[in-house]
Formats: sequence, C-alpha cells, structure tokens
Amino acid sequence: MRTTSEPTSIVTLQQHIIEQQREHPTATGEFSWLLSGITLATEIIQAQVRRAGLLSAAVLGETGTRNVQGEMVQKLDVIANKTICSCLGYRNVGIMVSEEDDEPTIVKEGTRTRKYIVLFDPLDGSSNIDVNVSIGTIFSILQRRDDVKDDDVMAHILQPGCQQLAAGYVVYGSSTVLAYTTGEGVHMFTLDPSIGAYVLSRENVRMPHTGKEYSVNEAYRDTFPDAIQRYLQWVKTAEAGKYSMRYIGSFVADFHRTLLRGGVFLYPPTKSAPGGKLRLMYEANPMAFLAEQAGGAATDGKQRILDKAPKALHERTPLVIGSKAEVDRVLSFWQG
Ligand code: AHG
Ligand code: MN
Ligand code: MN
Repeated sequence: MRTTSEPTSIVTLQQHIIEQQREHPTATGEFSWLLSGITLATEIIQAQVRRAGLLSAAVLGETGTRNVQGEMVQKLDVIANKTICSCLGYRNVGIMVSEEDDEPTIVKEGTRTRKYIVLFDPLDGSSNIDVNVSIGTIFSILQRRDDVKDDDVMAHILQPGCQQLAAGYVVYGSSTVLAYTTGEGVHMFTLDPSIGAYVLSRENVRMPHTGKEYSVNEAYRDTFPDAIQRYLQWVKTAEAGKYSMRYIGSFVADFHRTLLRGGVFLYPPTKSAPGGKLRLMYEANPMAFLAEQAGGAATDGKQRILDKAPKALHERTPLVIGSKAEVDRVLSFWQG
C-alpha cells in the first residue's frame, strides 16, 4: 500500500514552490526566489562532493583549523559554507547563520532591511566525507520579528522552531535528494543531473507511525541518562520485538532513513556533551519541523523541540526524533 502519492508527471522543485506559493496568496515571489538560491547552492555542493576523491578537486581532508564548535573543519565544510553564502547573498536574505561561522552574517542593502533569516549546517556528517559515506546540508528559514528593533539581531534570530517559515535538507547519497516543508507537508525531490533540476519524487511524505529501527551511537551508552540505558536494554528484548540498529553518523542520512522507513533517532546527553551534541537552530529545529509535518515527533526529553526558546546561536540540545509511537516509547522510559 503506497504511503505517499508518487507523481505521475514531471514536476520540478521550482514549479512546486510556485504552486505552493499560489496556494498562499500572501506569499511573495521573494520566498520562492530565496528557496531557489538554496537549491542552487546544493547543486554546486553536490558537484563538489561527487568529485571529492579526484586529485583535480583537491577538496578532501582538513583545513587544519577548528570552528566555533571546536571541531576540525574539513575543506568541503568551507566550500559548502562559502557556496551557500554566495548563493544567498542575492536572494533577499538579511541574516545568515552558519554552523561554520561564530557570528551571524548581516547582509546590508542600503537602508532597506531584508526580512529573511537563513540558518544552515552547510555540510552535515563531515567526518564521513573522506570515506564516501552519505553527508548532507540542512537549512531553516525564519523571518525578522516585527516586535523588536531592526538592529537587535540576536532577538530576530533566537526564535523557537515553531516560528520557522520553511526547513529542509539535502542528502548527498546514492542519489541527491532534497526534502522541504513550508508547513504544508513534506515533499521530496531527486536531482536529475541530466537536466540539472530537482524533480518531484514523493509528495506529502508520511513518516510511518512505528518503526523497528533505532539509531544511536551506543559507544556512549554508559554515559547516557539511566532512562535511555533502560530503553536500550528494553529494545533488545523479545518483548520489544525485532528491532534493528542503524547508525550512519550523518544526522541527515539517519534522519532521511527514519523519515521514510520509520523508527527513532536518538542523540541523548552524554558525559562529554551534557546538553547533547546536535545544534538546536540548524540541525534539530529544521528536522523537527519536517518530522512533525510528516506525522512524527521530536523532543529533547522534556519538551517539544519546536517549543524550545533558544538562548544562544550554537546551542546544543538532546534529541529524540522519529515515529510518534517510537518517540513516545522512549519518553515512557525518560518520563516514567
Ligand atoms: P557535523 O558534521 O555537521 O558536525 O554533524 C555531525 C553530527 C551529526 O551529523 C551526526 O549525527 C553526529 O555528529 C554524529 O556524532 P557522533 O560521531 O558523536 O556519533
Ligand atoms: Mn551537522
Ligand atoms: Mn556541519
């Protein structure tokens, strides 16, 4: 039984965005122009990713520097970051927040303040670049608040995830797949390199209500909260039924599988990351928006991810995300 309506005609991402815009009389062309800037950037990034192993590309390896997260920056991280910034520069984006940049980038155009804010993880799963494992790009779109002064930049940025206008990701896997939502369901597109366009492959994606795959880095099990350790014992019992463990180490790829097949992804607090490892603004929030739009759920163990009031640009959060029944199951141990 098909869970999503697979399209019967070729619809490109640009056409789909314009269709969506038609259904939103208030939506202006600016927004679709902005989204097309992001998709252009991901097409350029994917071309680099696909050539990463070639000497002529010379994009593998580390830059030798560390980012604000304290992580070694890969050359492809920098390339992806610069690509997105340059593609967005001309798309009516007023503020850009990148995992790779300590501070936000404010784009000035005379005295006019541009209303859109784009937050992004330019390349997620960087540790997998050199071993040819799927990686991705994650983005989240907000707009400036109308109740704070123009120059109060952090107040404009630090909005809860429920304020997102749109969110999405691209997974550079066996094919290049883009998923996005503007609050009207989740839609997926596959890049057709022969025409250089993203073509609609799944419309109104629904995450299965349950799923027998859990995704967590069990190497940290002994430093997880007791409740999570109890869940990880339970999930291996006959009573739980036959669960499989899948963990790619690229959040985008682990989430993409969970979105399509169901299951649950966990990155709980650990001793080395007591607030969790994944970043709220440009990893957890966009994926939580997509998960909920597809019928799934996302929590930090205490509250809905989309309700969290951010306090800092690069703040991290514990994360349990996936099929509603599977997330509730984890919570039953955590809140039991
Ligand atoms: P990034 O490459 O953007 O820093 O993200 C890496 C993240 C995420 O993609 C993945 O789920 C997680 O790091 C893996 O962390 P561990 O290696 O600690 O399991
Ligand atoms: Mn990441
Ligand atoms: Mn990253």
